[in-house]
Amino acid sequence: MIRKLTLSVLAAMALSSGAALAAEGGHVEDYAFSFEGPFGSYDQNQLRRGLKVYTEVCSACHGMKFVPLRTLSAPGGPGYTDAQVRAYAQQFQVLDEQTGEYRPAKPTDHFPPSNMESAPDLSLMAKARAGFHGPYGTGISQLVNGMGGPEYIASILTGYTGETKVEAGTTFYENTAFPSGWIAMPPPLMGDDVEYDDGHATDLHHEAQDVSAFLMWAAEPKMMARKQAGFVGVGFLVLLSVLLYLTNKRIWAPIKGKRNQA
Ligand code: HEC
Repeated sequence: MIRKLTLSVLAAMALSSGAALAAEGGHVEDYAFSFEGPFGSYDQNQLRRGLKVYTEVCSACHGMKFVPLRTLSAPGGPGYTDAQVRAYAQQFQVLDEQTGEYRPAKPTDHFPPSNMESAPDLSLMAKARAGFHGPYGTGISQLVNGMGGPEYIASILTGYTGETKVEAGTTFYENTAFPSGWIAMPPPLMGDDVEYDDGHATDLHHEAQDVSAFLMWAAEPKMMARKQAGFVGVGFLVLLSVLLYLTNKRIWAPIKGKRNQA
């Protein structure tokens, strides 16, 4: 019975993932990120590099209006000092709700919104694209291989073929990761787009992975804390199970003991 059930569940999973794959078409590369797996954590230097790519390249069009600037100094993130966050914030002009005038941003403000209407906000993109646009469309591969939003974003950034077409006045760029195969975003990265302070390589694939890791952190800055809470929870359950087992043995010991004598 159980075996039959398992088989049919597996069959259903294979069928649905196959169908989703056929419908999606996008190819997602399985990049290895430091934060994958139960013990994975963000790489502070990578987050700093990704922030640089985001600031110097992506923010020309995209925004991250749900992410407060002060999270840059939160534990587990890029590890900025308060002074660094203040300095970073000052480069953006934000509309002051009280005075109605523009002023330099403060750490309590959020990252600016998108400059370009057709460029989506990237605050939650790494999570929005995690399950559904993953390679098999069902999120199963994300579970099994840890493939999700960051892999998808890095694949988009490196997936341009160089072909373009114009449709209804809009230029589309052929992209092997984008589900429809043609994306309206011009290739944002060519390699050597930024200069890293830590001397890390600035080829296309490294820059793409760095900014994708940064966007994962932006979407889920508390991933480490969540994983830790998970371990504590599992630890408690294990302890509880052991105690229950021992209690159970003890309660039944007199009766079991008698039966053995008989
Ligand atoms: C010249 C403007 C421009 C720049 C620069 C730019 N983008 Fe985009 N981006 C767009 C537009 C426009 C879209 C919408 C494309 C579409 O829906 O076809 C988009 C879409 C996206 C998407 C969503 C894809 C999806 O599944 O819907 C992601 C992710 C993305 N950009 C990431 C980035 C990153 C990371 C950078 C910086 C390395 C960047 N973009 C730089 C204009 C830009």
